[in-house]
Amino acid sequence: MKKKVLILGSGGREHALAWAFAMDDNVSEVYCAPGNGGTAEIAENIKVNLVNLQEVLRLAQEKNIDLTIVGPENPLASGIVDLFRKEGLRIFGPDKYGAQLESSKLFARNLMAEKNISQPSFYSCNTREEVESLKGILELPLVLKADGLAAGKGVIVCETDDEFEQALKTIFDDGKFGDAARRISLERCLIGEELSVFAVCDGENFKILNTAQDHKRAFDDDKGPNTGGMGAYSPTPLSTPKLIDRVGVEIIQPTLDAMKERGHPFTGFLYVGLMIVDGDPHVIEFNVRLGDPETQVVLPLLKSSLFELLWNATEGKLKKSKVVVSTETAVTVVLAADGYPGKYKKGMIIKGLESVKDRLVFHAGTLQKDHDIISNGGRILNVVGFGKDLQSAIDDAYAIVESIEFSGKYYRKDIGKRGLQYLKKGDTND
Ligand code: AMP
Ligand code: GLY
Repeated sequence: MKKKVLILGSGGREHALAWAFAMDDNVSEVYCAPGNGGTAEIAENIKVNLVNLQEVLRLAQEKNIDLTIVGPENPLASGIVDLFRKEGLRIFGPDKYGAQLESSKLFARNLMAEKNISQPSFYSCNTREEVESLKGILELPLVLKADGLAAGKGVIVCETDDEFEQALKTIFDDGKFGDAARRISLERCLIGEELSVFAVCDGENFKILNTAQDHKRAFDDDKGPNTGGMGAYSPTPLSTPKLIDRVGVEIIQPTLDAMKERGHPFTGFLYVGLMIVDGDPHVIEFNVRLGDPETQVVLPLLKSSLFELLWNATEGKLKKSKVVVSTETAVTVVLAADGYPGKYKKGMIIKGLESVKDRLVFHAGTLQKDHDIISNGGRILNVVGFGKDLQSAIDDAYAIVESIEFSGKYYRKDIGKRGLQYLKKGDTND
């Protein structure tokens, strides 16, 4: 029997998930809560407040949902999986305890230390004085991280004394990260190439979906403020089969073993953020969900059934599933509202979508209003290009960008450039 799927969230990642399920032969209906203007075209959007877990539970019960997938981290950190499981509903994601791999940087760091997983040296600090006194031991550059969830903004990289003083002020005087910064992870700053690995886990085993590189800064050449992500590509030339194998054996498997030993087998997506230094992978962070916008390139390259994979994972039978991945490269460019991540306008009418309706354009911050699609957020659309290599995928993506117009359209012009530079250098980790 075909199954009903519910996706929680409203961004480009959730549109990509809805798109994958809408095409899946195992799936009869796709619901998105709350969804966006793009998911409205391929699924049924249902208004819901994701902060109210009881409301989400009622919705899943009323619609007889067979499988719920959680897009963002907050409901996971609040224990939505524990609640659904208690009520006998099937949901893909870690329980509240497991979600600490993302919701507490120090929980993740301590777990990695226990299993000797490669990571930067770190100290757990409770006070400003502790941070100041440890600065001499780690030396600049170093990284200060709020322990808790801070919407992706709780990390400050300090290269100079001034930046370090400013970071102390931001955290301790201005209290910018609030409760999230009650504890601080003070870390050695690793210099290398960043890369993310996405895996599906069933409590005991895992399957790697693909690798990707995000572009977090607002402006070209990685300048300007941090954003949720301005573009991504998959796979990255850094990720040789040998490196991916090492990430599985040296990082993902011991993490799953540790969670099982603690009585909380980890089921869900595991997003491993890595810094590659001299060919060796070190963990920068774990997330317990898919990345946004990385999902928008990882899922379109997955040629086997996502539903089957996640369903089997919730049964602890991931080994039964095959992961078939395209040999192509995918690039996504985020079309944003001018001003993002600061102040920006909403409500702009988006034109040109008709002309690219045979192409993959995921919606992030959009709304359907009468016959128009209008902007409703900072990151508005994610166009996805494909190619036999990175350069042709970049060209393909930017050709789609040209066809879409709205007032104040802003996007980075250099998505994928770091990958091209890396290829030029001719380095590989083989
Ligand atoms: P996170 O939110 O943990 O992904 O951190 C945001 C960004 O800060 C990462 O993508 C890295 O670029 C950088 N970062 C975090 N921790 C470190 C570290 N220990 N060494 C170098 N860069 C880091
Ligand atoms: N794109 C970064 C993230 O999803 O955390």
